[in-house]
Amino acid sequence: MCGIVGAVLTEGSVLEGLLGGLRVLEYRGYDSAGVALGLEGGVSIRRKAGRIEKLEDDLRAVPLADSPIGIGHTRWATHGPPTDENAHPHTDNQRRLALVHNGIIENHSELRAELEAEGVTFSSGTDTEALAHLLGRELDRSAPSLAEALRRALRLVHGYYAVAAMRFGDEKELVCARQGPPICVGVTPEGSYLGSDVLALIPHTRDIVFLEDGDVCELAPGRMEVTRIDGSVVQRASHHVSWEEADAGKGVYPHYMLKEIHEQPDVLARTAFSRIDEARGDVNLGHDELGDGGWSDALLQSIDRVQVAACGTALHAGYIARYLIEGLARIPVDVDYASEFRYRDPVLAPNTLALAISQSGETADTLAAQRLAREKGCTPAAICNVAGSTLVRESDAVVLTNAGPEIGVASTKAFVAQVIAAYLLAVRLGRARGVIDRVQGLELVRELRLLRPSLERLLSEDHVAEIKAVAGRHLNAKGFMFLGRGINYPVALEGALKLKEISYMHAEGYPAGEMKHGPIALIEPGMSTVVVNSRGLVADKARSNVEQVRARGGQVICVGSDPESLALADEAIEVPRSSEWLSPVLNVIPLQLLSYEIARLRGCDIDKPRNLAKSVTVE
Ligand code: AGP
Repeated sequence: MCGIVGAVLTEGSVLEGLLGGLRVLEYRGYDSAGVALGLEGGVSIRRKAGRIEKLEDDLRAVPLADSPIGIGHTRWATHGPPTDENAHPHTDNQRRLALVHNGIIENHSELRAELEAEGVTFSSGTDTEALAHLLGRELDRSAPSLAEALRRALRLVHGYYAVAAMRFGDEKELVCARQGPPICVGVTPEGSYLGSDVLALIPHTRDIVFLEDGDVCELAPGRMEVTRIDGSVVQRASHHVSWEEADAGKGVYPHYMLKEIHEQPDVLARTAFSRIDEARGDVNLGHDELGDGGWSDALLQSIDRVQVAACGTALHAGYIARYLIEGLARIPVDVDYASEFRYRDPVLAPNTLALAISQSGETADTLAAQRLAREKGCTPAAICNVAGSTLVRESDAVVLTNAGPEIGVASTKAFVAQVIAAYLLAVRLGRARGVIDRVQGLELVRELRLLRPSLERLLSEDHVAEIKAVAGRHLNAKGFMFLGRGINYPVALEGALKLKEISYMHAEGYPAGEMKHGPIALIEPGMSTVVVNSRGLVADKARSNVEQVRARGGQVICVGSDPESLALADEAIEVPRSSEWLSPVLNVIPLQLLSYEIARLRGCDIDKPRNLAKSVTVE
């Protein structure tokens, strides 16, 4: 999704800060980039298709004059191909202002026709340019400020947007607005800043305001004013974001994804260990940024059903959450794609907890599903990684995952954190409802502590070398099948998603029991099958799947702690034993590393895979 940055300073030049902010937001996925600086009475705009390096080359070749006010943008093309002309920022015909936008202006064609009939000339094929001209028209109609011009223009717009605009007329004016995709702002005496997410603001301030849908914000050094689109002034609380700037760097790793894979033992500790209450044989779901997280015993005891909605990797964590909550707390759980749930007019039982799972907390489908569930009387809850996100703000109860910023587009540490959070929630639910007694609870929470050495072992140099060798032997497979049973079947889905999204190889994940109902037709020499199998209730069933695949000439890579399955397979990747409930946390590690190593050998852009965005804030 597009990245937006902006700044207005008391003095000095904003350009380097804008480019730095765009680089931090690269992980969101984009195909063009641009900046605009405010000059006395106008704007100067530079924009290039391709990576930020191309924009920087252009700026080195023909430098821009210093300016204390500017905006920047990385565009993920929706309307109009990624060309220099379609890149943002856009301006009006008098080049008085610059504007950048993330989202979709659904009535852009009508607006364009209306403006062209008034003599406006367009220079791009984007929906965004219509908004830039609308802004110019409101200034022509004597709007007293850029903020008021933006409020008037947005009242004519249908769709969703995070938008920032600026001009440097009699004074420096920097404004932004939100309806859907996130935008946040930070104010310091030296300057004020805006960005698509906190990572762009952390270098300047960690006290950050997250705008809400319908907000319009006017920024100046040391000052901000938030209004609603009707002009009424509102107050928005500031959040102190504890992420360190270093968290957002790659450190010693070649890719964010590899760094984040290796962060997972720490993510386990940050997400779980401080929440363990051994004295009570229980856990607490609170968080220092969110108090008790809203999980009162009254709420927990009132829940008769759980409805999970999520997308992608988060959905796979949701499938695992079903096994955990049903298995440990004995509450029925339904799970659905958020993109399906939001349009199927679901029938929801009373006393249903609507549990949305999301790393970013900004995924459009997941937000829409959660809002629909709330409208239908459910209690909205979330497992989420971003404290100030829309999903967290719109939920009555939250388990924050403390994974830190996840930059790699392919989710790894956030998935493990989501599974751990689901385990914590299942234990808390079971204890609050008397389904789990104190002794059982103590045993369950102690299992969490046992995970850390196993995670460390799975991330050791020896184990990584073993995975590299397996990757090399399967680099040119015709395709991959990932199979698992029980609580590990969603791990198979996740392994397939990881491989396809960063190596672009065809990979399918299935419940292993489904093989004989069709997928087994795909098995032949050259087809690689990964079977995830841990000791437990269905180990013997998954073991027979290993034999079925091998009997048809398929190569099997077995991942897990079931010795018989490992002995049967062509490739054995052993995983330390653990509680079956927590085996997904361990089994997913070799799958993350396998996809990473295959993608690396295939020379893929691991942190920014083609066509993908880190947070899908539009439909
Ligand atoms: C996972 O590797 C993908 N990047 C994608 O499926 C992602 O999990 C999905 O878009 C949901 O994102 P969210 O967790 O931020 O809601």
